[in-house]
Amino acid sequence: MNNLATFNAPKITVVGTGYLGATHAISMAILGFDVLGFDVDHHKIAQLRTGKVPFFEPGLPEKLEEALASGRLHFTTNMDEVARFGDVHFVCVGTPQSADSAAANLSYVDTAFAELAARITRKALLVGKSTVPIGTAARLTQMVQDISPLGPELELAWNPEFLREGFAVQDTLHPDRLVFGVSSEWAEAVLRRAYLPLLEEGIPLIVADLATAELVKVAANSFLATKISFINAMAEICECTSADVSLLAEALSLDSRIGGRFLKPGLGFGGGCLPKDIRAFKHRAEQLGVGQAVRFLGEVDSINNRRRVRTVDLIRELAGGSLAGVRVAALGAAFKPNSDDVRDAPALDVARLLYMEGAVVTVYDPEANANAHRLYPDLNYVGSLAEAAHQADVVALLTEWEEFRRADPDRLGALVRHRRILDGRHALDPDRYTSRGWEYRALGRPYQRAVPVPQDVRKPATQLPLFGWQGQGQENLVQQGGDSVP
Ligand code: UDX
Repeated sequence: MNNLATFNAPKITVVGTGYLGATHAISMAILGFDVLGFDVDHHKIAQLRTGKVPFFEPGLPEKLEEALASGRLHFTTNMDEVARFGDVHFVCVGTPQSADSAAANLSYVDTAFAELAARITRKALLVGKSTVPIGTAARLTQMVQDISPLGPELELAWNPEFLREGFAVQDTLHPDRLVFGVSSEWAEAVLRRAYLPLLEEGIPLIVADLATAELVKVAANSFLATKISFINAMAEICECTSADVSLLAEALSLDSRIGGRFLKPGLGFGGGCLPKDIRAFKHRAEQLGVGQAVRFLGEVDSINNRRRVRTVDLIRELAGGSLAGVRVAALGAAFKPNSDDVRDAPALDVARLLYMEGAVVTVYDPEANANAHRLYPDLNYVGSLAEAAHQADVVALLTEWEEFRRADPDRLGALVRHRRILDGRHALDPDRYTSRGWEYRALGRPYQRAVPVPQDVRKPATQLPLFGWQGQGQENLVQQGGDSVP
């Protein structure tokens, strides 16, 4: 899509080049716009300029290369340049949880808008994409108009982003919907021009006021979190009966009114969005005097956190009642597969809790080891599944990477001291494991005892070429035709 010159395409800037901003800047250039990306982090900008994406996101490096080669994408650390360049300025900076409360920390958002407003000298549209509490856009409108030499001429819009890590490119170039929160027809017209290629493709558009646009994002994340915690609450019920939450989820999912997405039971949600967004939403509702309306989000959060503790309980049970000195192979650290993000990661939290109870924890994540190490340097990190499993008393699958789903129970079993597996993500076929002599446990599922197997499949690790396997990558730990991704 390179024919935007015919309709006077706006020049785009993107302030903040994290997961959201980098993907947005790259995608807008791919769509044919001239784009200038900004960040205060010189190192990040230097990486992006040379074609390196500073985080793991499948498909994004290729898109960055394509965008840079087109000559339409540039990066800077100079805000004056940004103010001069753009007709539409997208603000994509983070809104993490505050250190001392459940509220969102809006200091980065406030600074970004203030810095832009102080410098912009011609009519332009400021567009917030960050997830913010309701009322932020109205407050920022007042703030930027007070600061700017343009006064009320400087307009602000809100355009929430719904991309998922691991699918960021797909979600940005082919979103389910676009939402424009605007206060004037002019702002709507500018945003329509900025998203023309997607609108021409037929992507549904909702045009709303500023507050509704802000609310769409937090409501969507709250709904998704609630759905996950609902099925995990059912898992708690299953745990004190003989019911199986996996079968329950499958049966529920076949009701088309319910659907199967975000109904996967297990260790629960984490990451840089869902946990902090539901907390900030609840906090904001309380400030507005309507805390009762979303009080249930506190329960959603509690159910989610209990899954981490319960996972440790199951691992302790598998280990025979105590974790002291027990060797646990912790498979996964990222908050979900295809990401190196360890923010509020359930997997890493479980590893930390195990370590605090005296277990000897060995963590392996295909992409997130470095980030995890920065957060919890006391844990032991290794570079392969085989090293993690070596002499383990319990294997704990905590993030459902494809490599773990497809591991061969026999080859894995030859490495460990005891064939005991905790499937924290309902990612494995229990029969495949129990039939090869493994004890299998998963949250909300009945205890699956090992099926007795002939002695010859339980070869000690020394009889199998452990290091040869590592030398050849992981392929020998993998069984063809293993569990497929649903
Ligand atoms: C989420 C929203 O999906 C996205 O629209 C928003 O823009 C940002 O927040 P993301 O944080 O990338 O995206 O991850 P998502 O795929 O939503 O998963 C969140 C967490 O929920 C992960 O830890 C995942 O493992 C967990 N999850 C998801 C479940 O436990 N069960 C499920 O059924 C689905």
